[in-house]
Amino acid sequence: AMSGQRVCVSDYEEEARRILPKAVYDYYRSGADDQNTLADNVAAFNRWYLVPRVLRDVSVVDMSTSVLGHRLSMPLCVGSTAMQRMAHPAGETATARACKAVGTGMMLSSWATSSIEEVMSAMTSSPGSGGVLWMQLYIYKDRELTLSLVRRAEKAGYKALFVTVDTPYLGKRLDDVRNRFKMPPHLRMSNFSSASLSFSEDDYGNDSGLAVYVANAIEPALSWDDITWLKKHTRLPVIVKGVLNGQDAVQAVNYGVSGILVSNHGARQLDGVPATLDVLEEVVKAVQGRCEVFMDGGVRRGTDVLKALALGAKAVFIGRPVLWGLACQGEEGVTELLELLKEELRLALALSGNWDVLVC
Ligand code: FNR
Repeated sequence: AMSGQRVCVSDYEEEARRILPKAVYDYYRSGADDQNTLADNVAAFNRWYLVPRVLRDVSVVDMSTSVLGHRLSMPLCVGSTAMQRMAHPAGETATARACKAVGTGMMLSSWATSSIEEVMSAMTSSPGSGGVLWMQLYIYKDRELTLSLVRRAEKAGYKALFVTVDTPYLGKRLDDVRNRFKMPPHLRMSNFSSASLSFSEDDYGNDSGLAVYVANAIEPALSWDDITWLKKHTRLPVIVKGVLNGQDAVQAVNYGVSGILVSNHGARQLDGVPATLDVLEEVVKAVQGRCEVFMDGGVRRGTDVLKALALGAKAVFIGRPVLWGLACQGEEGVTELLELLKEELRLALALSGNWDVLVC
């Protein structure tokens, strides 16, 4: 922005692009292959229209909601994005404090550069009354290792497990291959101890280091039985992250999940899949209220949140925008960004005649 003031999410991205090392910005920004779905996730929001109601007294707008039984100040939460200390030295701990300050939830990546315990204590010790942490879980070939992540999340006080089901292998992100993307040497995935599991080996060859890491460590044989397996080993609610159609949604409900996150992994896995907003309605209809339905992908505006909620999402998650906020100004940057989106949602709701708004 010309004045240096950031007034929308894209201002944050522009500033972050100038600040971040190229390989880091590329990793954060990229989608898979030709990135058609990456563009479509954002474009889909422009294909739906809000149909406002008038004369409905919008002097007071209540944005608070509950997600999996926890009260939040707004239906917009922070999704799991890996390796946040590449954006700012405080990384995930800064994001957790920002979520606490605005009273929303944060999903911590298995691949965080801050540990499960460290992020919980950052949130707990930070001012504010809200704030909840959920754990995003990658299922490793090593099941004992996987269960140790689950136990640590339970013990630390995380409130749910979001199991990522769209990553039996890593999608092909061309810039990461060209950059031979790997972790900066001063950082590692903090939830693991060995060099191989903490993504801190010296050499991953001529490929994206992360693609090599996934091929080595993550379970490609994952199946529905593993949802049963996971549920048997935890009392936490299990949500599947990465469902894109009604049939899988029904299957998930039959396997006893507490929630479904409609996601295409920020278009970083299979290119050519539909924009998440465009499949949300199908999933919501298939589920018939039997569990909570969430969405992520391309949410950049308060009006985007409103459209997803009007199509039946209980709440939405944002990925990349938080990384831009972190890069610009750490905890303050993320707090500002979340407050900006919250205010955009408040205005959108007021101008729509509150929650009676429809989309078409
Ligand atoms: C992700 N995403 C992701 N998902 C996951 O389950 N575990 C992870 O570790 C990561 N890491 C990750 C890193 C980066 C840089 C991005 C951009 C995304 C996917 C993420 O949870 C979410 O689905 C998308 O980011 C949502 O799309 P937007 O908001 O980025 O468009």
